[in-house]
Amino acid sequence: MKITAIIPAAGDGERFGEKKQLKLLNGRPLIFHTIQPFVKSELINEIIVVVPKDNVNQLSRDFKSTITSKKIEVVEGGETRQQSVYNGLRISDEESKLICVHDGVRPFVTLALIEKVIKASMEHDGAILAAPSTDTIKKVMGDQILETLPRQTIWRAQTPQVFSKPALKEAIQIAIDEKLEGTDEASILEKIGYQIGFVEGSSLNIKITTKEDWIFAKAIYNELND
Ligand code: C5P
Repeated sequence: MKITAIIPAAGDGERFGEKKQLKLLNGRPLIFHTIQPFVKSELINEIIVVVPKDNVNQLSRDFKSTITSKKIEVVEGGETRQQSVYNGLRISDEESKLICVHDGVRPFVTLALIEKVIKASMEHDGAILAAPSTDTIKKVMGDQILETLPRQTIWRAQTPQVFSKPALKEAIQIAIDEKLEGTDEASILEKIGYQIGFVEGSSLNIKITTKEDWIFAKAIYNELND
């Protein structure tokens, strides 16, 4: 079965202050670290990296010159993450049955985690990685707490998130038409009634969002590559 990995990495880094997907970690742009396990996985047939317009040509050349063992495409992103994923979806191999979406700024995903979530997706309409919450989560409004959510029911969504290609296409199309914006792909499939499973990810599979996250990223990288 053909599986396409779509790596949205077209954010403008507003919260971070620069395009963090291109920031050097041990001398290499972060996005190169992120795609490594996808290059290695024998389950993945092609990788589509979605990047800012200004970086398409350069990154396309860089990826194609360094990655020769797998088909890799680079495409321009959209206004939102959802649109970026859709741009990737549009150029995916016609024969792909599953789409594996992974944040370009989660560089510590492993081959084992990718393959675990792909296997889990086959038992549902799709599956994601998630990690149990160690914090107690409060629902708030303004400066007041409305309620405390039972911690044992709270899991933090990670990526990869893997779905059947027609289901993901349908969900994003509906979200675009109805102007719904999901912060992940699973949320829009859930909303239209698809049954999405989850398997435990890793607390090392962090998403680099803020400057503080860069401190964790360097520490994790150093620990894993000691
Ligand atoms: O905004 P968020 O932190 O959820 O971004 C997750 C991933 O989506 C990042 O890798 C970012 O580059 C990507 N993204 C994108 N297109 C956008 C916005 C974000 O590909 N328009």
